[in-house]
Amino acid sequence: SRRWRRVPGSSSPRPMPESVHEQGNGPASGPTSGQAPGQVSGQASGQASGQAPGQAPGQAPGQAPGQAPGQNPAPASGPASAQASPVPVIAIDGPTASGKGTVAGRVAAALGWHYLDSGALYRLVALAALRAGVDPADGPALAALAAGLRPRFEGGRILLADGEDVADAIRAEAVGVAASRAAAQPALRAALLALQHAARRAPGLVADGRDMGTVVFPDAVLKVYLTASVESRAARRHKQLIEKGFPANIVDLSRDLAERDARDMQRAQAPLRPAEGALVLDSTRLSIDETVAAVLEAYRRRAAH
Ligand code: C5P
Repeated sequence: SRRWRRVPGSSSPRPMPESVHEQGNGPASGPTSGQAPGQVSGQASGQASGQAPGQAPGQAPGQAPGQAPGQNPAPASGPASAQASPVPVIAIDGPTASGKGTVAGRVAAALGWHYLDSGALYRLVALAALRAGVDPADGPALAALAAGLRPRFEGGRILLADGEDVADAIRAEAVGVAASRAAAQPALRAALLALQHAARRAPGLVADGRDMGTVVFPDAVLKVYLTASVESRAARRHKQLIEKGFPANIVDLSRDLAERDARDMQRAQAPLRPAEGALVLDSTRLSIDETVAAVLEAYRRRAAH
């Protein structure tokens, strides 16, 4: 998948370093320093998953965002069966360009689970808003755009209703910045909630974003907070943009990343922070393989309980 190119891998395996923490000690370094361990947000209560949601507005069956490669989604289970045996979720949250997408996709592939790239949903709405001239601070207008979206996730392609593939267009930095502004709007977050819950399908879901563990899937079997230094994240994003043919400048990117981090962490609604009980992983000095292995190992330990 093209998203796997997001983080350059390192060649030599290294011992698992001190960058692996159980939440409670707080993140090790970088922009997350000083963040208090997150509480499960009040707004999540009553939305605890384990219940398959109703159909999201416009959600056609079999359109779980970011479906794992080569998998046909199982039909969404009804509330009764979902309650008896909730579909397991691994929630991976963290700041922009921390490698969440790459790691989440790899973990999903290793387990044979589905994959939800929740950021793609915010980016899709942001792209639609930019194209329609909608203000990214106009919550109700954004929610209306979200309700009208009929994205289809097919392998690496993200198709709009008219068949246009916007998988690359939504990766533009301007779209990411607009997505981060739009994501501060409660009306939009609410509009996208059902679509995210609908991605929870057997045999399991790996979901990445900012509030997967705190708000959207508070009952996730494993919550991971994946971070990395601003410098390494800017370098990764730079490489990713250049590969896609977008112009990119590392100084501007570092500034954009820092601004987006601040906006995502300081917003009133579903701020970015480690969920309570989250495994905090600083991937600055970890290869993709090491990071994926750490997540799988933590899942196996928790699943064994
Ligand atoms: O992860 P990605 O960079 O694609 O996300 C784009 C923007 O969408 C983020 O900067 C963030 O503001 C927003 N977002 C969010 N909640 C999520 C996923 C993304 O607020 N679960």
